[in-house]
Amino acid sequence: MVGLFRIVGVSVALAACAGETADPPVATGPVATPVADSRTFATLDDFLAGYWNRPIPPQGPAPDGWSSLDASLAPADCGTCHVQQYEDWQTAIHSSAYSPGLAGQLVSRESDNFRFVRSCLACHGPLAEQQAKLPLPEGGFGTNPDYDPQLKHGGMVCAACHVRGQVRHGPPTREGSTAPSAEGMPHGGVVRSEYFEDSRFCASCHQFAAPAPNGKSLQNTYEEWLDSRYATEGVSCQTCHMPDRRHLWRGIHDPEMVRAGVTIEWMTPAEVEAGRVGIRVTNSGTGHRFPTYVTPAVDVILELLDAEGSLIPGATRSAEISRRVGVEGGSWVETTDTRLAPDSSMVLTYPAPSEARFARGLVRVRPDAFYRNVFAGLLAGSLTDTARVLIDAAHEASIASPFMIFDDTVSIGR
Ligand code: HEC
Ligand code: HEC
Ligand code: HEC
Ligand code: HEC
Ligand code: HEC
Repeated sequence: MVGLFRIVGVSVALAACAGETADPPVATGPVATPVADSRTFATLDDFLAGYWNRPIPPQGPAPDGWSSLDASLAPADCGTCHVQQYEDWQTAIHSSAYSPGLAGQLVSRESDNFRFVRSCLACHGPLAEQQAKLPLPEGGFGTNPDYDPQLKHGGMVCAACHVRGQVRHGPPTREGSTAPSAEGMPHGGVVRSEYFEDSRFCASCHQFAAPAPNGKSLQNTYEEWLDSRYATEGVSCQTCHMPDRRHLWRGIHDPEMVRAGVTIEWMTPAEVEAGRVGIRVTNSGTGHRFPTYVTPAVDVILELLDAEGSLIPGATRSAEISRRVGVEGGSWVETTDTRLAPDSSMVLTYPAPSEARFARGLVRVRPDAFYRNVFAGLLAGSLTDTARVLIDAAHEASIASPFMIFDDTVSIGR
């Protein structure tokens, strides 16, 4: 997460990388060695222990007899056979994880601060083949002979989730069997595991370990889910974000997904004090806090209108649903947290002046509220020309991303 690391990370990372040279030697051998037998990931315990060690070790040479298509890690090549998954994935945010907002922060550090680059690619491009350099046994970084820049631009590519040591891993068959598929199939078949249906599969990137301002990690999605009824009811991340195994991963940037996760309603006169109007927002279908991250914000707005339908001057009230964090003295601090835990509600009420005849309620989602400020801050500082073009594009996109999920006017019956 962008500035989250950036603000605290910069000086630390620079100090740690003082020994690196701008033009590193070729790596004599990657520190991360290919997995000898990745079929050992067949059990849940093995998966939890090693599947998400990052960077994901180089895949090594493909087995003899594989076609170049079978051996390819490129999403478009997987997509020649897995058409639906590839089409879905192209529309998903995972496929743009190597985004302008990220790239703009990495381009100028590729040469002199690869430690920083690598810390970001752990989630935004986790295969060894996506990383220009690998750590040298003696310290520092060397050129990675397996580096594929095009794969890096794919972000969270198919292989990041499905391929280890050239072995393709996948979920149980639809009938529930985890028996490995027969030999002679493309890419040597597939090793199947129920781990693909487990929320812990996603937690590796969507749950941060530290820092944890106010006792809650900056990305606390898995913990929030564990605390909810969804965990006990067996409703996983995949149930909601990959319905019918679709590779869509819709979230806070998708109006339809957000609408499906909340209920917004006017309060009845019996529910509010006399002379007040009110609106209630309930997290009715989101499997973690609404929203889960520190980066989006949701505005709930009430406006009162007169008999002509004109806004009464000053008769507007709003509340923000978000978790606001900042850095104080080098540490993360939480200033407010008004996010809605699963099944909880917030209400916004407002005393209606006597001339008020109508109330208008609005709920606006700003998916990139935090990043917009981060990008503006970066643009105000010094950037290389390439970085500036990228950050500028990210800033524009963050300005364009807000949308309304509710806009309704009711008579308040006087
Ligand atoms: C533990 C996994 C993880 C790491 C490490 C990580 N990110 Fe992210 N990042 C995410 C997730 C998940 C999101 C999407 C959620 C959100 O919007 O916060 C994200 C979103 C972003 C975004 C906003 C969306 C976009 O692509 O424009 C930027 C920018 C970003 N990260 C930059 C960085 C930078 C820079 C680093 C390294 C300093 C980094 N990230 C490290 C997981 C990670
Ligand atoms: C030449 C065609 C072809 C290419 C290319 C290909 N696959 Fe497959 N894949 C198949 C076939 C056929 C099966 C069904 C085999 C089986 O069930 O054992 C399969 C099975 C799978 C499965 C299990 C699917 C299930 O039904 O549960 C996964 C996951 C998978 N492939 C991932 C990938 C990924 C990731 C790539 C790219 C790195 C890829 N495949 C490239 C043909 C291909
Ligand atoms: C973020 C991780 C992730 C990425 C990226 C990803 N997948 Fe998957 N894939 C999964 C998970 C998890 C499942 C199982 C979902 C479930 O069981 O609900 C799955 C299931 C599948 C299946 C089995 C589908 C079925 O109907 O049984 C295939 C085939 C597959 N993926 C191929 C691909 C291809 C091809 C790509 C790239 C275009 C890709 N995946 C990208 C995580 C991922
Ligand atoms: C290796 C890291 C990684 C794994 C594993 C992973 N993700 Fe992500 N995910 C990311 C990153 C990085 C982003 C943000 C990309 C960006 O915006 O630049 C993201 C974005 C998302 C988003 C979109 C958020 C938004 O802003 O709307 C959803 C939803 C999501 N992931 C769900 C899942 C689910 C469900 C799984 C498990 C099946 C999963 N992810 C596994 C790294 C990962
Ligand atoms: C009961 C359905 C449900 C479950 C279970 C669920 N989500 Fe979500 N998720 C949603 C909905 C609806 C949204 C859109 C509203 C929002 O952003 O909070 C969302 C949004 C997101 C986002 C966008 C960022 C944000 O700030 O909200 C990410 C990332 C995400 N989910 C990841 C996960 C992960 C990881 C898990 C499992 C630990 C998970 N989700 C479990 C329904 C679910």
